[in-house]
Amino acid sequence: MDERQRALAAAHRAATGFFAGLDDRPVWPRATLDEMIDVFGGPIPEAGTDAEEVVTALAADADPGLVAIPGGRFFGFVIGGTLPAALAADWLVSAWDQNSGSSTMTTAVVAMERVAGTWVCDLLGLPAEASVGFVTGAQMSNYVCLAVAQNAVLRDAGWDMARRGLRGAPSVRFIVGADRHGAVDRGLRFAGVGADEITVVAADGEGRMLPESLAHALAAAPEGQPTVVCLQAGEVHSGAFDAFADLIPLARGYGAWVHVDGAFGLWAAATPTLEALTAGVGDADSWSTDAHKTLNVPYDCGMAIVRRPQDSIAMFHAGGDYLMHTSLDPWDVTPELSRRGRGVPVWAALRSLGRTGVGELVDRLHRNALRLEAGLREVPGITVVNDVVYTQVMFRLDDDTATCTLGAAILTDGTAALTGALWRGRAVLRCSMSNWATTPEDIDRTVAAIARLSREGASV
Ligand SMILES: Cc1ncc(COP(=O)(O)O)c(C=O)c1O
Repeated sequence: MDERQRALAAAHRAATGFFAGLDDRPVWPRATLDEMIDVFGGPIPEAGTDAEEVVTALAADADPGLVAIPGGRFFGFVIGGTLPAALAADWLVSAWDQNSGSSTMTTAVVAMERVAGTWVCDLLGLPAEASVGFVTGAQMSNYVCLAVAQNAVLRDAGWDMARRGLRGAPSVRFIVGADRHGAVDRGLRFAGVGADEITVVAADGEGRMLPESLAHALAAAPEGQPTVVCLQAGEVHSGAFDAFADLIPLARGYGAWVHVDGAFGLWAAATPTLEALTAGVGDADSWSTDAHKTLNVPYDCGMAIVRRPQDSIAMFHAGGDYLMHTSLDPWDVTPELSRRGRGVPVWAALRSLGRTGVGELVDRLHRNALRLEAGLREVPGITVVNDVVYTQVMFRLDDDTATCTLGAAILTDGTAALTGALWRGRAVLRCSMSNWATTPEDIDRTVAAIARLSREGASV
């Protein structure tokens, strides 16, 4: 075998060993960052090392610092696992090493991405003609959509931002919900929008924007002011969905651009049992979502979806006069030029699941959330805080310090991983059911561990 084959074989051995041990290893890493820096650090070696040896050693050395995200009991943040077809396709993306910014060079990859984008729009009830830009995640797809939105509403107000920039431009109002994800503010900041230019609209107890508050905010703006309204499918803690069928027509009545951050929630549209949560969402102008969350492709993959492709091209076109420019090449609809073919694993995931399989996947995540909720409700002292409409479950103990202590004990115990947050001024622990590999037994093991640790904590 040549060096490349031996290195790939070593990576394959290490990966299969990692998967084989997932069920038994502690979910949270055992090594600290400093310990890992010690392992990998030191001065750059003078001499090189054989590739197989490098890969074998790095896999062994990394092991204590790895978090068992692909296993069935990682519930922190909102993080999906990796479907087999998507993982293997991602390996091929690295092996092929195709620069995927332009269709002229990389026809196979761009074709797969284009088809995957169309399939995603079909599954999520979004317009077939929309542009789909594959970016690293929902942070970047929010940024992309908001930059496109700002450019488009300014153009409609007679201001060509590509020529004249933002200084001196008409002021644009950005209206967001009180419980938006921080990625929206950050995306706006990347687009040159300051915090003072953002109008925050009140939300209900689950984090849904209040229609009467949106109506009030829209009515308060000077007539004709360019406006962008950001809605949300899936609040990161509660999983709640904005009432799109009420809010979008309201915003439309004021000529606003409507953007939806649906990092993980848009996927509710892929199953008849949950699609009511997203009713009306297809009437927006742009949507941001992730494939590395609910669809379970490997990191990293987000999608920026824009109803009228010419709006994306007007913001991001890579060359020529954009008015004449009608290409949907990846580099014309996102900020990147050179990049990996991160849409290929999306195509592979969708091809392996089919429409039915995607629906069943989302249903399973929801059922897991309901099972966890039911289990937690049986544990003395635990209160489930949210209405479990989708994949998110939030709970707490009566006392905030005890909740935080329990959260730390869960990570140390290693049976499962979940992460803490502050919700309505109280400490909570939040669990996100985002991994295709999670089984009902994983949920039961997690509930049993939480019950045991909370009993032990109570008796200390
Ligand atoms: C609603 C929402 N928007 C945006 C993001 C950011 O996504 P990413 O980490 O993929 O950039 C998240 C992450 O959990 C999210 O839940």
